[in-house]
Amino acid sequence: MARVTLRSAEWYSGDVKNGYLHRAWMRRGVPDDAFGRPQIAIANTASDLVPCNRHLTEVAAAVRDGVHAAGGTPLEMPVLGLGETQVRPTAMLWRNLAAMEMEEMFRANPVDGLVLLGGCDKTIPALLMAAASVDLPAVVVPGGPMLTGAFRGVPLGCGTDVFRLSEEVRAGTLSAEEFARSESAMIRSRGHCNTMGTASTMGLVAEALGTVVPGVAGTPAADSRLLEAAHGTGRLAVEMVAADRRPSTFLTAGSFANAIVALAAIGGSTNAVVHLLAIAGRLGIDLSLDDFDRIGSRVPVLVDLLPAGRFLMEDFHRAGGLQAVLGQVRDLLDPTALTVTGKPLVDFLDEASIWDPQVIRLRREPLVEHGGIAVLRGNLAPDGAVIKPAAASPHLMRHRGRAVVFDSIEDFHARVDDPALDVDADSVLVLRGCGPKGYPGMPEVSNMPLPRKLLEAGVRDMVRVCDGRMSGTAYGTVVLHVAPEAAAGGPLGLVQTGDIVTLDVAARRIDVEVPDDEMAARTPSTAMRAGFADPRRGWERLYVDSVQQADTGTDLDFLVGSSGSAVSRESH
Ligand code: FES
Repeated sequence: MARVTLRSAEWYSGDVKNGYLHRAWMRRGVPDDAFGRPQIAIANTASDLVPCNRHLTEVAAAVRDGVHAAGGTPLEMPVLGLGETQVRPTAMLWRNLAAMEMEEMFRANPVDGLVLLGGCDKTIPALLMAAASVDLPAVVVPGGPMLTGAFRGVPLGCGTDVFRLSEEVRAGTLSAEEFARSESAMIRSRGHCNTMGTASTMGLVAEALGTVVPGVAGTPAADSRLLEAAHGTGRLAVEMVAADRRPSTFLTAGSFANAIVALAAIGGSTNAVVHLLAIAGRLGIDLSLDDFDRIGSRVPVLVDLLPAGRFLMEDFHRAGGLQAVLGQVRDLLDPTALTVTGKPLVDFLDEASIWDPQVIRLRREPLVEHGGIAVLRGNLAPDGAVIKPAAASPHLMRHRGRAVVFDSIEDFHARVDDPALDVDADSVLVLRGCGPKGYPGMPEVSNMPLPRKLLEAGVRDMVRVCDGRMSGTAYGTVVLHVAPEAAAGGPLGLVQTGDIVTLDVAARRIDVEVPDDEMAARTPSTAMRAGFADPRRGWERLYVDSVQQADTGTDLDFLVGSSGSAVSRESH
């Protein structure tokens, strides 16, 4: 095994005053030889306010044992976590703050390697962005999904089934008391959402990228095999330090290509697009929005999970998990892309088997023949927009309709159910002011609920266009991540109610039928501009001033790229 000079030795070696100060305060029962070993930070996003990650403290204890067993020194390090359902206005507003805090603290402290504990939607992306920038040996342990809860004999998908049950209350087939009782049935155990939402997607995509020990992602949070994996990951982190296996040494364009193949095959969340773009940006890897279409659209969807399908993450794990899926699309993977183990991802697929072909389909019997993300461009989205064809209605993939425009999410809520709203099934709902700068934080509102009068008339899907994101648990014919957003001067801000919007997914186009000169002569409405965020201070001000658009991952412009692990000045 290659030997490297430990970074932490800069803090702990020598007899000078600084070495004394660094060592003395860390002693507290620690033996002398603890300082000469690899110092492994266990970056833990657990807190009482990040309920999906709360169990990670127990996972951290297993990692700690593994680090000890391999001759390292474990150091548990609480880092900023984000509870998707708790923080307002949207957790995405703080993904970059979390990544920045982690990056700065990884660099500032005497650590040689990192074990990254995440789960809830933004936590694994933030951890990976930070690790990529600081470029220390790093490995992720995804916290894993909840066990499947059932209510009145029916399995419940987190998030997705809230909408179904609340509709039952409105229809009078479920009492308010029973509805409330279903809460604890839905959140049956520790872990993150059990659908193929963003948290499940990002855990699996992180493994396909090569940053998780192969075979671990998707292990339910309550499964004792997660603790076994955490122990093994702690051992591996020590080995990674000895081998100097930093993200920049094993993450390549091929790694991201593999992540995109996995994203398509699992039918994963559209949120993975902005997260993968941001992680690649930290590594200086030239990943573009178009790569998602080029690589992903030839990949079949093989996983039948909610929200688009039937099963849940516990079923997915039982059916063989990610390796079973990747085994089916092995020929589409980059065989040279490495993992945290130092070996290629494909080397771990020889034994991959599908144990339940209802949950994970064989390649020859896909759920959807062409999955992935389609990237659209046109005069409505010059820098791109995305749509998930597998979640859209086939009859709307080519559509022409009259725009009904909403200037903000508040405007939408105020008017959508108005019986006088001039809207029909062919209309195109346009919502703006929901991009990274406009809201701010690009909330998950793009899959707007349909107008009540159309729902009552039996309409179940409409074309919707928005500069925001959409929950990984949602579906519909939704064109989202429109770039540039209205608040950044994008043409979405110039569309007027009554304009004709055309969507042609096969041609990868989203346009408004307004001549260029007429569009150029329009000015954004005062009402719309009044809805854009204009924070006075703090993080929101910094975010709005510096956030980039969706087509490049919505990172802050001054955080893109690698920073390295060298501290700027020695301590004095
Ligand atoms: Fe945490 Fe869904 S709310 S993963």
